[in-house]
Amino acid sequence: MKFPELRARRLRKNSLIRDMVRETKLSVDDFIYPIFVIEGENIKNMVPSMDGVYQYSIDRLEEEINEIVELGIKSVILFGIPEHKDEYGSEAYSDEGIIQRAIRKIKELTDKVYVITDVCMCEYTSHGHCGVIENNDVDNDKTLDLLAREAISHVKAGADMVAPSDMMDGRVMRIRKALDEKGFSHIPIMAYSAKFASAFYGPFRDAAESAPQFGDRKSYQMDPANRREALKEVMLDIEENADIVMVKPALAYLDIISDVKQNVLVPVCAYNVSGEYSMVKAAAKMGWIDHDKVMMEMLTSIKRAGADLIITYFAKDAAKLLKED
Ligand code: PBG
Repeated sequence: MKFPELRARRLRKNSLIRDMVRETKLSVDDFIYPIFVIEGENIKNMVPSMDGVYQYSIDRLEEEINEIVELGIKSVILFGIPEHKDEYGSEAYSDEGIIQRAIRKIKELTDKVYVITDVCMCEYTSHGHCGVIENNDVDNDKTLDLLAREAISHVKAGADMVAPSDMMDGRVMRIRKALDEKGFSHIPIMAYSAKFASAFYGPFRDAAESAPQFGDRKSYQMDPANRREALKEVMLDIEENADIVMVKPALAYLDIISDVKQNVLVPVCAYNVSGEYSMVKAAAKMGWIDHDKVMMEMLTSIKRAGADLIITYFAKDAAKLLKED
């Protein structure tokens, strides 16, 4: 059948029918909200390159957590900015580290927030790389032990899920083994599986104060040009027992999200990263785009591509809009 018998516009006639045939619907349940926690007291620092995103000291976390609960957002992912950095990122796996204390604080405040932690070294190392440096590069196998210690320490503090973002080979297996040995076999791992060496992380590195002090991350994060390799990374992580796999960034990588969704049986998460957020905020400030519409279109696209979960700095803005609807 074809035109004039067939008319696609019939199903777009008014908002009632459009609502009925809509294929993708965003829900507040889809969102994971990133929070930056910094050492010190009474701090709420706006991140200059990320309008509306703040670094909070632990004593000020309550206002952020209350707002999240109020909006019905179920989950947060934590990033820490420690007071001291060293070559081995020792505050990452200290039981008195910034993240460990932040987790305990959040768990004291509420049982309504599912706490995920980013497991990586770059916020804690003096050189800003995601692991131990040996011969001017990150040493994979030496880094694995530290990542496992970091994950255990987060879970001991009360983390509900750990999310390794370092891109070392074998880290999911190593962390799974460590968790199981310590009696944490019930704690899931969400692996940053297809994490690309992206320029879209720029504003995050301001927020987390984690820019590499020399070189770049290209010897461990993926080449943005590689599509099949992303699937290989995902498959390796699933073989190592990842419970959820992640694609990062999201918007410039919708093809990867779609590939992954079609090839795995575990939930797929996408990280709508800092640069993707800041571009919208900046353009909206200039009056060049409609902030809310562009935000919702982006988040819908990420979900349409196949993401079951979206880590996004827009979580609060989007939750407010969904609530009004
Ligand atoms: C840590 C980490 C990064 C992001 C999340 N975890 C930065 C990086 O790899 O340099 C980026 C998130 C964002 O840009 O929003 N390795």
